[in-house]
Amino acid sequence: MSARDPHRFINELDEEALARLVARLESRARDAVFARLFEKYAARLALPAHARVLEVGCGTGATLRMLARRPGFSGQACGVDQSRHFIAAANGFAQAENLGARVVFQVGDAHALDFAEASFDVVIAHTLISHVTDPAGVLREMARVVRPGGTVAIFDGDYSSLTYAYPDPAFGRRMDEALATATFNNPLIMRDLPRLLRAHGLALAEAWGDAVAEIGGGSYFKSFAETYVPYVRRAHLLPAAALDQWLDYQLRAMDEGVFFAACNYYTYLARRA
Ligand SMILES: C[S@@+](CC[C@H](N)C(=O)[O-])C[C@H]1O[C@@H](n2cnc3c(N)ncnc32)[C@H](O)[C@@H]1O
Repeated sequence: MSARDPHRFINELDEEALARLVARLESRARDAVFARLFEKYAARLALPAHARVLEVGCGTGATLRMLARRPGFSGQACGVDQSRHFIAAANGFAQAENLGARVVFQVGDAHALDFAEASFDVVIAHTLISHVTDPAGVLREMARVVRPGGTVAIFDGDYSSLTYAYPDPAFGRRMDEALATATFNNPLIMRDLPRLLRAHGLALAEAWGDAVAEIGGGSYFKSFAETYVPYVRRAHLLPAAALDQWLDYQLRAMDEGVFFAACNYYTYLARRA
């Protein structure tokens, strides 16, 4: 079987796989580094009072809940995801936090959004664009539903930079590539965004990069390895025994305090003309 990005084909996954992804999205949102990377762009969104915000590919709603919890947020946030399971989870988490009508969720496809043109002040894609079937189609929809002068915010990784230390660097490199291939439909898409944004009438206002690195111990990259190695295995990208050895090594390196893994993440803020 060839690689099938689990977030792209989420509606094919069983309950156990979905539960793992829900747990991973929630734990990533609690991770101090990822919360800081979100806060860095959230602070620059210049939300008007009563802002209307859309997140496409909202998953369990972790990003929108962070937005709604920000001091002074007085708007309404709407999350859309293709997974009924994730939308049910998103409603449950938002209810548990008493977010009321400030945050609402609905099932939908980012390639064909069920909203009128210019419905939102801000439209966000937080680690969505690397997973979708047609990134240009999603950008076209984001550009359509944001109002003129409104902001499109896109945050994602550049997954050719995803790397784990391994004593056999040649196999380590193959493993890094296999992880990126098994997990992301568009592992290099963040490099194309300056061109794609312009092609969809979105003027780049700001862009920056951040390296996420875990040295000594691992939490985010530990969960990444544990969650996505099974997808490398299922796609037969590398021999099963070599995968077991690689994962054992990473877990041991964490216990021994010699772990190293890193990946670059990029943020683009663009305005609709
Ligand atoms: C890595 S998760 C990110 C979730 C959320 N943005 C966050 O950061 O926690 C990617 C999400 O994109 C959703 N997704 C992928 N393709 C989609 C599409 N065509 N339309 C709507 N959602 C999609 C998946 O269902 C998944 O919830």
